Amino acid sequence: MEYKHIPVMLAEALEYLNPKSGNIIVDCTLGGGGYTLEIAKRVGKAGKVIAIDADEMAIENAELKVKSEKLENIILVNENFKNLQKIIDHVGVEKVDGIVFDLGLSSAQLEDRSRGFSFNLDAPLDMKFGIKNYELRITTTEEIINKFKQKELEKIIREYGEERYAGRIANAIVKNRPVRTTKELADTIMNAVPASYRRGRIHPATRTFQALRIATNDELSALQEALAQTVKILEDKGRLVIISYHSLEDRIVKNFFKQEARRCICPPEVLQCVCGHQPQLKILTKKVITATDAEIKNNPRARSAKLRAAEKILF
Ligand SMILES: C[S@@+](CC[C@H](N)C(=O)[O-])C[C@H]1O[C@@H](n2cnc3c(N)ncnc32)[C@H](O)[C@@H]1O
Repeated sequence: MEYKHIPVMLAEALEYLNPKSGNIIVDCTLGGGGYTLEIAKRVGKAGKVIAIDADEMAIENAELKVKSEKLENIILVNENFKNLQKIIDHVGVEKVDGIVFDLGLSSAQLEDRSRGFSFNLDAPLDMKFGIKNYELRITTTEEIINKFKQKELEKIIREYGEERYAGRIANAIVKNRPVRTTKELADTIMNAVPASYRRGRIHPATRTFQALRIATNDELSALQEALAQTVKILEDKGRLVIISYHSLEDRIVKNFFKQEARRCICPPEVLQCVCGHQPQLKILTKKVITATDAEIKNNPRARSAKLRAAEKILF
């Protein structure tokens, strides 16, 4: 299958990542390789790109490109980025000059009929980014849909999907169990929401599908775990760039940057600092960066993209 994905905010990501000849850069979300290939050009033969993806399909597609174009400075790693330190150790590198995350899923994954990410294609309820990396904690979308208590389901749909009809949708899912395919799920959602919502700008199942994907892949925890490992891995003046597509992800990134840029992280009631915390990051994007109108027109996926960047500082 052809792997389709138009990179989002590529120019801006490169500007902040600022890869130079000889640098070692980690692309935590290889996807279609849009970022990786451009970074590889810039770091040149003397440099290296460590490109990670949990999805075998992304890795296999990149392997073909790497072989056919004889790209010797790209190391592909089929792993979850939450294991960042382990991956770096495994590759045999101590410090890197830049780390980039372009979160979420690629267009190729969305359009892959067998994956269950899309409500437009009928498929089993799967929604996993990858197979190999889930030995430890396997919660499939189908289990969430058919086994979770109604309240838990509602919470996932409300929090991760920011869906105002989460209550009605969770109730309808529980009544219609077992729900086995994306089409059955999309129809259940369609019948649960008011008619006015069905005529809205987005398909009524969009937010619920997003919520289930986030829950299935434990995406917010993976991001938090990975971010916590970045600072130690970065060289002095190394860059960290994150593009997110969901307000909860952006909040995690923003709070992480704020915390790591602060001298003291004692609770407000402590009058004299006892934490000894030193700032580790300098925030480069005082305001979040969004895609240009021209890019959004050409690639609607860019509409919700938010880029934040920071630089490692040493004291
Ligand atoms: C938006 S795409 C990246 C697109 C890429 N920047 C490009 O230009 O082609 C996101 C990718 O991140 C991967 N991904 C998401 N969460 C991940 C995780 N926790 N660990 C590893 N890969 C992950 C997905 O499988 C997907 O391929």
